[in-house]
Amino acid sequence: MKLLIEKDYTSLSKKGAEIIAEFVRKKPECVLGLATGSTPLGIYEELIRQHRLGGNAGLDFSKVTTFNLDEYCGLEESNPQSYHYYMRENFFNHVNVRPENINIPNGNSADPHQECIRYEAALEASGGVDLQLLGLGPNGHIGFNEPDEHLILDTHVVGLSQETIEANSRFFVSAEQVPRAAITMGIGSIMKAKKILLVVNGKGKADIVRKIMEERSISPKIPASILHVHPDATILLDSESASALERN
Ligand code: GLP
Repeated sequence: MKLLIEKDYTSLSKKGAEIIAEFVRKKPECVLGLATGSTPLGIYEELIRQHRLGGNAGLDFSKVTTFNLDEYCGLEESNPQSYHYYMRENFFNHVNVRPENINIPNGNSADPHQECIRYEAALEASGGVDLQLLGLGPNGHIGFNEPDEHLILDTHVVGLSQETIEANSRFFVSAEQVPRAAITMGIGSIMKAKKILLVVNGKGKADIVRKIMEERSISPKIPASILHVHPDATILLDSESASALERN
């Protein structure tokens, strides 16, 4: 896994956006895998800024297809905590991705298992993700693939771990309101992406980053550790999340 360290959140966001923008300019009809959480917010802001440059300089998303990693079960799309809402507010409402090219798992499906099968088939039919943006849970999860005895390959329904419920409760009024389940792309769905960009910031992730980068083993107890065997994965850190790395 290629390691990039930026000074702070601003430069990390610029770097992440630069990698994505360069990719979209080279392959305008690409398939982007998108992530939520607080980490990618600066990247989305910068991509929006680049889109707004207008004319030939403006970053054009009109041919891009997107697939989001995950969505909570049981939240209406209009709920400000849903990932549908997050993506509209923080990205889609401000760029020109065509609505018909946007894919986010439906967490309100009457048959969530069928929804997972549909989503996985849609991913496959798109030709697969070209560039997948990922954040990192403090417990090492990617998407909502939680630490477990084994990792599930395809898009699936997952029960959220206590750690994740607590970590994500900062976005809700209380931990009780955090949904207990979600739909997430599986580890296989993620690993099929041709290129992966894992973005991590802040002191709170320094320990999990150290475990991933220095223990140099792959364990379902740290789902992101599987990225070590991806042929084209990059981990992009700010100096705080990199602060526990030996060489740092
Ligand atoms: C959630 C999402 C993940 C995200 C993680 C980290 O649990 N399902 O995809 O990477 O949070 O979020 P943050 O960037 O806010 O730390």
